[in-house]
Amino acid sequence: MITTGKAPVLAIDGPGGSGKGTVGQILAQRLGWHFLDSGALYRAVGVVAKRENISFDDPPALAHLATSMRIRFIPQTDGSAATVLLNGEDIGDLLRTEESGKLASIVAALPEVRRALLQKQHSFRQPPGLVADGRDMGSTVFPDAVLKVFLTATPEIRAQRRYKQLIDKGFDVNLPRLLDEIRERDARDAGRAVSPLKPAEDACILDTSQLDISGVVERVHDLLRERQRSG
Ligand code: C5P
Repeated sequence: MITTGKAPVLAIDGPGGSGKGTVGQILAQRLGWHFLDSGALYRAVGVVAKRENISFDDPPALAHLATSMRIRFIPQTDGSAATVLLNGEDIGDLLRTEESGKLASIVAALPEVRRALLQKQHSFRQPPGLVADGRDMGSTVFPDAVLKVFLTATPEIRAQRRYKQLIDKGFDVNLPRLLDEIRERDARDAGRAVSPLKPAEDACILDTSQLDISGVVERVHDLLRERQRSG
């Protein structure tokens, strides 16, 4: 794998349901850049740890799992979520459940796991560029990103978006419970000591509550073009 510190990075951070994943994938495709769904890495650690009975109270074992897993993303041409291969097994469906989001936010609070995933995330930075989505792409993983965007939306709107996404995928979900889970996960992500969910100081904050996906895509693309022209 060729690694370079020079490929430009577009960092898109924000809470679950803010639209960052969909917006990031569409922009990566439009720009012809690579795409990193960093949440999927944390979800994979959580899901596999549970499946392999690794204790959530054993940070070194979880960090070892994080470093040793071989994970590959195969982008979909229709903009839907990428296929995720873990050691060759398609684990995409396992990663999209609310439970995997909760497990992810538990392992994501451990500094050992975050450290272990750092190098993996850096390895996605390849020419001609990378769109990276997560919670700390701009603040910690790619502090030199050419543009840092932080997407927000109210918990109610994010819960409705998640509800629709999951129903469309055939999952059986309950809206009030989803809203509780989103609030619980926001609190855990914002309250943790390492890389808490908060915008990088130099991030552009965009409230997507009243915008549809194409509106957000155009806004972020305009910001990126402006930034590339000026820098
Ligand atoms: O983005 P997604 O909902 O897939 O992320 C799942 C969880 O993984 C988040 O709630 C957060 O706890 C964690 N995460 C993180 N840092 C990232 C991406 C995700 O802590 N860069």
